[in-house]
Amino acid sequence: MSETALVGREILARAEALARHSDSPDHYTRTWLTPAHLAAGRQIAAWMREAGLAVRTDGAGSLVGRYEGAAPGAKAIVTGSHYDSVRNGGKFDGVLGILAPIACVERLHRRGERLAFAIEVVAFADEEGARFQTSFLASRAFLGSFDEALRERRDEDGISFDEAMGAAGLDPAAIAAHPCDPASIAAYVEVHIEQGPVLLDAGLALGVVTAIAGGTRERIRVTGAPGHAGTVPMAMRRDAIAAAAEMVGAVEARARSVPGLVGTVGLLVVKDGTGNVIPGEVEFTVDIRSVDDAVREAAERDVAAAFGEIAARRRVTVSAARSHAVRATACDARLQDLLAESVVAVGAGKRRLPSGAGHDAMVMAQVAPVGMLFVRCGAGGVSHNPAETVDEADAGLAAQALLDFFRRFR
Ligand code: HGY
Ligand code: MN
Ligand code: MN
Repeated sequence: MSETALVGREILARAEALARHSDSPDHYTRTWLTPAHLAAGRQIAAWMREAGLAVRTDGAGSLVGRYEGAAPGAKAIVTGSHYDSVRNGGKFDGVLGILAPIACVERLHRRGERLAFAIEVVAFADEEGARFQTSFLASRAFLGSFDEALRERRDEDGISFDEAMGAAGLDPAAIAAHPCDPASIAAYVEVHIEQGPVLLDAGLALGVVTAIAGGTRERIRVTGAPGHAGTVPMAMRRDAIAAAAEMVGAVEARARSVPGLVGTVGLLVVKDGTGNVIPGEVEFTVDIRSVDDAVREAAERDVAAAFGEIAARRRVTVSAARSHAVRATACDARLQDLLAESVVAVGAGKRRLPSGAGHDAMVMAQVAPVGMLFVRCGAGGVSHNPAETVDEADAGLAAQALLDFFRRFR
């Protein structure tokens, strides 16, 4: 078996092993600081140490493994991704971008090879934000930024943000107290599954990312009047679900109107929902994205106006609270070119493509030039879905290309 196939097999075996650390016995869900998440972190730290990385845990629970360069204190190529997941998600989203660089460093370590730069592998503890709606919490904390208001939040079991951190042996007051030193970072590169069908349709194992779509996420509350399902005449109703349903349709219609614009309502909760009660209150989320910020912002304005018109016509109230906002991020041109050379060097094609999904690279772009290497998604390109899959050979090619990039980077 070739070295590439071997490393691919190792990466997939480790991804399968990590996926067994799940909050649920029924599907793969791993949210920030749960027992399963902490167990996965311990496993990643062990693999990092075996690979020759010196490991520290930061204030948000991210693992930072450092492999020194030829000259002590050399600037670092930082590389990594997240090890939390969405609910009932796929086992490669994030994880592949941690396991591939660990495998690369392991091969350098075995040969005693030191590069012009140090390598820092970061396993970010919370990117999806599924537990406390805290997207990019860990990469932001890695840079020293944290929104104290998040400490007011509770998860769906009523556990507070501070209680969750305390149970994990972390101090909420110190979550971002030991940030990385931006001056010590030469570049950030993230390996990630494409989470779409482009590479699959093109028959290519790898692609280089050109830009990452910006996005906003809002929590919308619609308040009407609860009432008896049998007695209130239709014309007199202030039905919160019926209003919300019209609003959901408005999001989809607006997003369909412009190529590349996407809009999603991923969560809808009815307060005290009961079959024979006219619903009085509904909350739902709106996620709008585009690689073009002006296109996204115009859509946000139009959706807000549509919500206002629907609410007025239906005599309900509507309010919005923004939980996430990140501008579109261009990947560094030089890093794109170097990554493209590495992809060609391993015979994996020449494709460049945008990312519709958000990534920690968007946060790291605040302090360093960023690049991303996409890996083909199997099963039609699905992600955020238990059917998410990656081919062993493609995982091996990704690690081989990343190692080539590490050696090529100057
Ligand atoms: O939502 C995203 O794009 C990423 O999976 N957090
Ligand atoms: Mn994801
Ligand atoms: Mn991801």
